Amino acid sequence: MAHNLVIFGPPGAGKGTQSAAIKEKLAVFHLSTGDMLREAIKNETETGKLAKQYTESGKLVPDEVVIKIVEEAVSPLPADKGVLFDGFPRTLDQAKALDAMMDKLGRGINGCISVAVPDEAIVSRLTGRRMCPACNLIYHITGKPPKTEGKCDVCGGDLIIRKDDNEEVIRQRLDAYHAQTAPVIGYYKDKGLLKEVDGTRPPAEVSQEIIGMF
Ligand code: AP5
Repeated sequence: MAHNLVIFGPPGAGKGTQSAAIKEKLAVFHLSTGDMLREAIKNETETGKLAKQYTESGKLVPDEVVIKIVEEAVSPLPADKGVLFDGFPRTLDQAKALDAMMDKLGRGINGCISVAVPDEAIVSRLTGRRMCPACNLIYHITGKPPKTEGKCDVCGGDLIIRKDDNEEVIRQRLDAYHAQTAPVIGYYKDKGLLKEVDGTRPPAEVSQEIIGMF
């Protein structure tokens, strides 16, 4: 059976890191709304122009905008391979919209992996993050440094610091998480789909636990 999963957690919990590690093992497509929005901003599309002000100030992009890009991304995917939704849903309305779109496609969500990390660990994770804008690979200056400083191990391109990885915006993202996103945990718990993992352990241990759940 194809796994259609949500990977859930606060900013910097390790959703992107875990998605990269588990997508092949679980044979799923990886759809990250953060990556899709950054791509749209880079390409200066209408969606990108609208999303920029929200992402750069750490606020959530309006539901209708995000729901539309997810629906457009998921609809053409073959149903015999699962999908890992990373960073979506982030509000209860997005969670309900995801169920409706998956229903329409004859698919369903089989699990929500909630990666738990306390707020105090988040700031140092995110201020030390570096990212390859071409491969979307994620590094950390001390936890996961690239082989050559400032260069992606895979494509050799220059690593960047995300515009929203500064302390003021990180605090705003955490506020948005607690106010608007955390309630989504209850939505999946009530459906019996919630699987919680402790995200404070080394990334490989976290991945092993997630893979073992499915
Ligand atoms: P998005 O890109 O989704 O950002 P986020 O949720 O804030 O999550 P991050 O990408 O910052 O962190 P992550 O959990 O993936 O952690 P990572 O693996 O990189 O969204 C950005 C913005 O887009 C939002 O603020 C919003 O404006 C908008 N947006 C996106 N989706 C939206 C939606 N559905 N609705 C509305 N708006 C939306 O790891 C972080 C760092 O920690 C790395 O350096 C990594 O090396 C390190 N690390 C990872 N795991 C570990 C570990 N186990 N131990 C130690 N270090 C670790």
